[in-house]
Amino acid sequence: MADLAHSHDLPLIVDSTVATPALLRPICHGADIVVQSATKTLTSSGFGVAGAVIARSPLVTTIDNDDLKNNFAIYVKYLPNRDYGPNLHPLQAVMSLNDMRTLRTKIDRMSQSTMKVARFLEQHPAVESVQYLGLPNHPLHELASKYMWLVDAEHDELYGKPVNRYGHLMSFCVKGGPERAREFFDGLQRIWRATDLGRIKSVATIPAISTHLQQGEEGRQLAGIPPNLVRLCVGGEHPDDVIADLDQALHRVESSTKAAVSS
Ligand SMILES: Cc1ncc(COP(=O)(O)O)c(C=O)c1O
Repeated sequence: MADLAHSHDLPLIVDSTVATPALLRPICHGADIVVQSATKTLTSSGFGVAGAVIARSPLVTTIDNDDLKNNFAIYVKYLPNRDYGPNLHPLQAVMSLNDMRTLRTKIDRMSQSTMKVARFLEQHPAVESVQYLGLPNHPLHELASKYMWLVDAEHDELYGKPVNRYGHLMSFCVKGGPERAREFFDGLQRIWRATDLGRIKSVATIPAISTHLQQGEEGRQLAGIPPNLVRLCVGGEHPDDVIADLDQALHRVESSTKAAVSS
C-alpha cells in the first residue's frame, strides 16, 4: 500500500487505533501519517476524548505547502487544530498520559485474555463463527503475525524473544439469526453493552443495530457484517469471568432454541 501510494506522490495514512503502538508501528512499514484515537485502547479508561497524529517528515504529498510537507504533525497542531479549538483539557491530558504508561502491560494481558475467550467461543455449540486475528484460521492471521509484535518483548525478562499479540478486539456470530443474537446480548451481565471499544472493561455491541445501522443492509453485506454478529472488546477482567458471562448468556439462547424446536 505504501509503495502504491508513494508511486502517486500520496501519503499513506493508517488509523492504528485498535492495534496501538504497543503492537504495531506503521511508520516502520512505510506509512507516512498515523492517526490514533486515544479515546480507545491507548488510554482504555474511557474517561475522555483525545487523539494523536504522528507523521513522517518530510511528507510525500502533491500538496504545494512547505509547512505541511516539512512537519505535518506540527502543521496540524498549529493551524487547523488551533483554529478549530479541539485542544485537550489539562486534567484530561494528565489522565490520558497516566493511562498510557500502562498500555504495554494492558495490551499484553488483554490480548492473551482475548485469545482465551476466542478459543472458548470457537468450541461453543451456540456460536456459528468466531473472527479473531489471533486464531490460525482467520484469513488475516498470517499477515497479522507478520506485523503485530508486542513492543520490546525481546528485552523483557518474561519473554526474552519477540512475541505476537493480536489485540483485544474480536467478533462472533450467534447461531439462530438476529433474534438469538439480541437475546444473547440482552443476557450479558458483566460485559457492558455499548457502542464503544478499547476499554479496560469488556464491551460488546451488535454492529447491525448500532455502529453500522445507518449503513443499510446492502452496505453491511458488502462489509461482511451479518445481523447476528457481536463485536466484543475484551477488557482487563479475569478472562474466566468474561467467559462465564458469555457462557450464561449463550445458555439462554440454547434454551430458547430448544423451546422453539419442541413447540
Ligand atoms: C478505529 C477508530 N478510529 C477512530 C475513531 C474515532 O475516535 P474518537 O472518538 O476518539 O474521535 C474510532 C471511534 O470509534 C475508531 O473506532
